[in-house]
Amino acid sequence: MKYFRIIFSPTGGTEKAASALTANWKEAETIDLSLPDKDYSEYKIGKDDIALIAMPSFGGLAPQTALERLGQIKGGSARCIIMAVYGNRAYEDTLVQMEDAAEKCGFRIIAAVSAIAEHSIIHRYAAGRPDSSDCDVLAGFAEKIKNKIEQNDMTKPHIPGNRPYKKVGGVGLAPKAGSACTECGLCASGCPTKAISPDKIKTADSKKCISCMRCVSICPNGARKVSRLPVFAASLAIRKACSEPKQNELFTD
Ligand SMILES: Cc1cc2nc3c(=O)[nH]c(=O)nc-3n(C[C@H](O)[C@H](O)[C@H](O)COP(=O)(O)O)c2cc1C
Repeated sequence: MKYFRIIFSPTGGTEKAASALTANWKEAETIDLSLPDKDYSEYKIGKDDIALIAMPSFGGLAPQTALERLGQIKGGSARCIIMAVYGNRAYEDTLVQMEDAAEKCGFRIIAAVSAIAEHSIIHRYAAGRPDSSDCDVLAGFAEKIKNKIEQNDMTKPHIPGNRPYKKVGGVGLAPKAGSACTECGLCASGCPTKAISPDKIKTADSKKCISCMRCVSICPNGARKVSRLPVFAASLAIRKACSEPKQNELFTD
């Protein structure tokens, strides 16, 4: 039995929550879904293996890029846990989309988790999460999932969300580099969708950019930014929904 962590985490929040959930997995192979040139069809997961699939919620949906890359992996009837990570507003149809995509690959879902991480655009929402108490909660979920695996319980949980899924809204925020940019190229090489061309480093191709904020988070000089006004407007629009801290959730039956 092998363990796989299949993760799309542009700015690290999903990775943090996934690490807390898999802390009791002694050895696991991580499949990073953020690599644009990777041939994911080389991954064939075995029937006895266990996989965690973790993605952030963007506009209440799973990022299309991550779903397409997941779609190349052969799930081989392996048991899997799906995890949607969101910035304290809502995850809406993210988990059901992940459920459909994982099943299409051949995975059998035994658990679903929603977890909170700092909002990667509006950092004051869920700031610092997952914190130590979130990690304790996620470790508790991990024990329950472990028991389910040990009991060979294959029950598929009821997963919240709607079909048809909500319409893709699109944030449309393509970060640009300011005068602090040294053209080091880190943002271009780290972009999950190749939206930043090495020859035109200061901008991003708005057709390819998924507004994931990877370039903003990895810039060593803090040079890449999104326009303040739309971020301010978005921040106001979700203020009410983000006013109370949301709780992590586990679905096993
Ligand atoms: C384009 C975009 C859209 C987002 N939409 C939502 C959302 O609808 N609901 C929410 O609660 N958080 C939303 N967030 C916040 C992320 O889901 C959250 O910060 C997540 O932890 C990001 O994952 P990462 O740190 O692995 O990149 C959004 C973030 C981005 C970049």
